[in-house]
Amino acid sequence: MNTFTTVLSFLVAFFTLATAAPLQLRDVWAPPVLYPHAGTVWTIGSRHNITWNTTNPPQQITNSNGFVILRNDTAFVGSDLDHPLVSNFSILAGRVEMTVPNVEPGSGYQIILFGDSGNVSPYFTISA
Ligand SMILES: *[C@@H]1O[C@H](CO)[C@@H](O)[C@H](O)[C@H]1NC(C)=O
Ligand SMILES: *[C@@H]1O[C@H](CO)[C@@H](O)[C@H](O)[C@H]1NC(C)=O
Ligand SMILES: *[C@@H]1O[C@H](CO)[C@@H](O)[C@H](O)[C@H]1NC(C)=O
Ligand SMILES: *[C@@H]1O[C@H](CO)[C@@H](O)[C@H](O)[C@H]1NC(C)=O
Repeated sequence: MNTFTTVLSFLVAFFTLATAAPLQLRDVWAPPVLYPHAGTVWTIGSRHNITWNTTNPPQQITNSNGFVILRNDTAFVGSDLDHPLVSNFSILAGRVEMTVPNVEPGSGYQIILFGDSGNVSPYFTISA
């Protein structure tokens, strides 16, 4: 083996290891949001349970402390990463109660459920 093929096989081995490793280190869980779903209409100020599917969580969850953010097509609305809509609940609970914030009525809203990972709901409507 000349120097070139030695270096090349080292690089190939290193690259294979580097790309394979993260999959083994972490088991990210993004539980699907069940409610709100497509067709949901929420009225400003009303209270609802956001729900998600907690079937088959991984044995190790990196972060079980959940929070929820509301967004429209382009931006976080009435909440952001520092000021979530609702926070400090267990991602294993499968539901969390929240109050619909006073935002511009529209049909392009989604909630993002964060915990171990983030998961986005289907688009739903907020009405006045
Ligand atoms: C949310 O779910 C809990 C448990 O099922 C229930 O007691 C509560 O009334 C629900 N809240 C709303 C706003 O529906
Ligand atoms: C929840 O997830 C499980 C496993 O993926 C699936 O079998 C089940 O149908 C889901 N439940 C709902 C209500 O979507
Ligand atoms: C989304 O929210 C941003 C920030 O409030 C606003 O500027 C924008 O017009 C909204 N877009 C839609 C489609 O409602
Ligand atoms: C989060 O929830 C835990 C357990 O319910 C409670 O002990 C803690 O004080 C809460 N933290 C905040 C910032 O609300």
